Amino acid sequence: MRTRRAALAVTAVSLVLSLAACGQSSEGGSKDDTKGGEGSTIGISMPTKSSERWIADGDNVVTELKKLGYRTDLQYGEDNVAQQVAQIENLITKGVDVLVIAAIDGSALSDVLQQAADQNIKVISYDRLILGTKNVDYYASFDNEKVGVLQATYLIEKLGLKDGKKGPFNIELFAGSSDDNNTQYFFNGAMKTLKPYLDSKQLVVRSGQTQLNQVTTLRWDGGTAQKRMDNLLTKSYGSQNVDAVLSPYDGISIGILSSLRSDGYGTSAKPYPVVTGQDAEVASVKSIIAGQQTMTVYKDIRLLAKTAAQMADAMLKDKKVEVNDEKSYNNEAKVVPAYLLKPVSVDKENYQKELVDSGYLKASDLK
Ligand code: GAL
Repeated sequence: MRTRRAALAVTAVSLVLSLAACGQSSEGGSKDDTKGGEGSTIGISMPTKSSERWIADGDNVVTELKKLGYRTDLQYGEDNVAQQVAQIENLITKGVDVLVIAAIDGSALSDVLQQAADQNIKVISYDRLILGTKNVDYYASFDNEKVGVLQATYLIEKLGLKDGKKGPFNIELFAGSSDDNNTQYFFNGAMKTLKPYLDSKQLVVRSGQTQLNQVTTLRWDGGTAQKRMDNLLTKSYGSQNVDAVLSPYDGISIGILSSLRSDGYGTSAKPYPVVTGQDAEVASVKSIIAGQQTMTVYKDIRLLAKTAAQMADAMLKDKKVEVNDEKSYNNEAKVVPAYLLKPVSVDKENYQKELVDSGYLKASDLK
């Protein structure tokens, strides 16, 4: 009798264990009632490893989710839209509970996100807004318009326009990838700030290229920006110098600076123009310290990862998801509730405090 009861107990325990194991499995199968809460798997789809920020983003999101008890499946699309879509499809087939996605092309995910919705998988749009589908639950990002405002404000101050210098100063404008929703936010923020000075002709765009569709840089590629800068210098700057370049992203700034260097900039007779950037990437911070790139916009992506992880956690536990903006990000299908973090302007004066003292970069990385 005793043995039989013990045997039954063992059977019952193993049944419970195997059922629990089923509920935790991230492999195959359709979603069921056992999903949700800690122990669930979160699929993370990042755009590319070609820039250090996205590598750090992937690692940070994994770390934050693991701290909360989740399993993760991290994929990189290598800036190939079809590859990202296939990876997301695969994550859906594996039965993830939430998807955290930084889109390569914000408009290319409607079909795959319908598949996610059909499986009751929640979606967090990470840094870049996913467009044209109602199947996006939340958006975790920075105040993207503010990024452009910070870049343009810096240019205006550095050129002395705020202090009454009249100019005119020559400026050229660069924007990010046309398929990234952030691009227009960065550009519009910057242009609205530059406008009074463009209107008064204290700032002059000698190339005449001032419309967003004339200045975008596909996939944020530095080499593409370098070629465009080469062309601008050849066509519009015979005897004149460029005084300022609005660049939306560090990788693009590095390309622009290479072009300028080849054209003889970077000497006391022909100093570099004021060049902006974004992301506080190591190469650009070194360039800032060396007096080449002038500023960057630092976005603490450690906080972004934490925000996205907390959103996933709250959704899976049916708790209130914290947002601080419910009006700015209309994705053409709905206004996506967002949590927006603050970007910070960084140059030679404050990089130590903002980047090194905060632990974002190591002093040794910048040697
Ligand atoms: C944007 C992002 C920027 C920069 C850029 C290129 O979407 O907001 O911080 O990283 O992509 O990767």
